[in-house]
Amino acid sequence: NIPYNPKEEHTLVLIKPDGYARGLIGEVISRIEKRGFKIIGLKITIPTQEELEEHYFEHKDKHFFNSLCEYMSSGPIVAMVVEGSRVVQSFRNMMGDTNPALALPGTIRGDLARDWGPDRGVENIVHGSDSPQSADREIALWFPEMVD
Ligand code: TYD
Ligand code: MG
Repeated sequence: NIPYNPKEEHTLVLIKPDGYARGLIGEVISRIEKRGFKIIGLKITIPTQEELEEHYFEHKDKHFFNSLCEYMSSGPIVAMVVEGSRVVQSFRNMMGDTNPALALPGTIRGDLARDWGPDRGVENIVHGSDSPQSADREIALWFPEMVD
């Protein structure tokens, strides 16, 4: 394990099941590295319902929550802790809009994600923490061994 330096900024990145299944792990990691950010934690896992309820607790009452959990637990994901100056906002910018149809070209979702058809629900390839506070919470959830 690479030491976790609490003085640096970190974000939690997930490559979601559609990204994994479509062979986009290298593409996403390559964009992170080319941007100059450092990957200090990385694992492949299939999320459990319990983990998803914690990860997406703010969306528990939303109409899309069930399909979101179904999608997110449908196969392996890659979870990463990424370190760098202002990495939380930078990676949000790199991801693009939540809805692939609205994501700009040049962003991960804008270049690689497919439109949300009725058959594909809520796919959009990646997750990135929305604030440093969320990042701390999400890193503790997916990488408890790193921050203990
Ligand atoms: P959200 O946190 O709003 O988006 P982001 O991933 O960009 O931070 O929502 C979490 C996930 O829930 C989102 O990636 C896809 C899904 N979702 C829907 O399926 N429908 C929706 O209307 C929204 C807002 C999100
Ligand atoms: Mg979010």
